[in-house]
Amino acid sequence: MLRVEHIGIAVNSLAEAIPIYEALLGSPCYKKETVTTEKVETAFFQKGETKIELLESLTNTGVIARFIEKKGEGLHHIAFEVEDIRAEMQRLKNEGFTLLSEEPKPGADQKLICFVHPKSAHGVLVELCQSVYP
Ligand code: CO
Repeated sequence: MLRVEHIGIAVNSLAEAIPIYEALLGSPCYKKETVTTEKVETAFFQKGETKIELLESLTNTGVIARFIEKKGEGLHHIAFEVEDIRAEMQRLKNEGFTLLSEEPKPGADQKLICFVHPKSAHGVLVELCQSVYP
């Protein structure tokens, strides 16, 4: 684990949330990106070396839609940058953590990602991400 790369926040509407976060952070959303594998639309902000990722579901049944239905809008995951995602996945498996996928998946922002089950981490959904084009 190298650093906190970004913090993911689930929102109902990017159109509503983006101006709020621009006002909060005092900097503009610099990128929007659709992640088809996760059926989400994302919007990114940069603060120092950490990003904020807003996530809006593109379907009523996607993971973000179900999260908001259960818990409401808010903090969804913390993403840690890793050098070698496969090595880190293996290390965490050996430590007894449950991973949500066997293989890394393509995520937003040119990353390979894998999630650690929140039950493994006291209720926090942890994302591992490795830059594909560093
Ligand atoms: Co993320």
